[in-house]
Amino acid sequence: MSKEIILTGIKPTGTPHLGNLVGAIMPVINMANDASAGQSFVFIADLHSLNAISDRAAIARHTREIAAIFLSLGLNTERTVFFRQSDVPEVSELTVLLMNVTPKGMMNRAHAYKASVDKNVASGTDADAGINMGLYTYPVLMAADILLYGSDLVPVGADQKQHVEFARDIAGYFNNVYGPILKLPQPFIRAETGIVPGLDGRKMSKSYGNQIPIFDDSAELKKKVMRIITDSKLPEEPKDPDESTIFQLYQHFATRADIADLRKKFESGGMGYGDAKKTLFTAIDAYLSAPRKKYNELMATPEKTDAILAAGATRARAVAVPMLARVKSAMLG
Ligand code: TRP
Repeated sequence: MSKEIILTGIKPTGTPHLGNLVGAIMPVINMANDASAGQSFVFIADLHSLNAISDRAAIARHTREIAAIFLSLGLNTERTVFFRQSDVPEVSELTVLLMNVTPKGMMNRAHAYKASVDKNVASGTDADAGINMGLYTYPVLMAADILLYGSDLVPVGADQKQHVEFARDIAGYFNNVYGPILKLPQPFIRAETGIVPGLDGRKMSKSYGNQIPIFDDSAELKKKVMRIITDSKLPEEPKDPDESTIFQLYQHFATRADIADLRKKFESGGMGYGDAKKTLFTAIDAYLSAPRKKYNELMATPEKTDAILAAGATRARAVAVPMLARVKSAMLG
């Protein structure tokens, strides 16, 4: 059996933080770089961001940032086809074609659309207020992303499982009518990596404003870490590491031995939160300092990043063009 084709997309809607790094970015890079796996495709889903963002400068900035983040953290672009979604126009054409085998009722059931409707209803406005067709048909574009490259496995967070299942259903409907052309993909749901808490102890999230951006400079990173909220235990008191934001964050950035060491210091007492924060800062800073340098270089020379994405788009189109041609000729002759 040939090796499985892996594909995933990342929406450029914000500046990624440490929670995104641990929960999504590193798992995607590790999976894509795995030399024992099949061909991998990773792309920046800029078309998908349009239903929520109309500021093109913001989309361009987030796209560059995400590209530079993946490159600086070690995505191997010889192995992985790394590109920007909108650089492959075939995906838009496939979307229009797939619309015709996609039941409208399926879109009505999409979680993201339903959440927007529920919010409107709860606030007493029209059910579809503020909902554009980009949001409503989001799953068809995502199905086109997936099916265009003959993807087998689609690594996503649990919130995207339904979208991958829709892509599989859409491929099935298409094949029923037009013959076995589209491969049926499967979601690969990332394992929970453990909680990545933010500065206030709640899950790190842009919507809580408690995030630590990945590539803050050292001084800013230190300032943020020192602001982590703790209880008021004195240095000499024993502390429960599993209740501590500092320790939970530390687990994602330190070696096993260092993690065990900090656990002991928490449990036996004698270490104050100030010192624990300094230990945490040192670990995160060490983990990120080489990638940060590379990131800053890439952000200072955007033409390098752009060239890498352009080369990726050329490779992506080498797969997309013939696939679209097969679909189009099956539908239109
Ligand atoms: N919808 C995904 C998200 O919000 C991003 C995405 C777009 C994607 N197209 C994709 C993920 C195709 C996997 C495959 O995270």
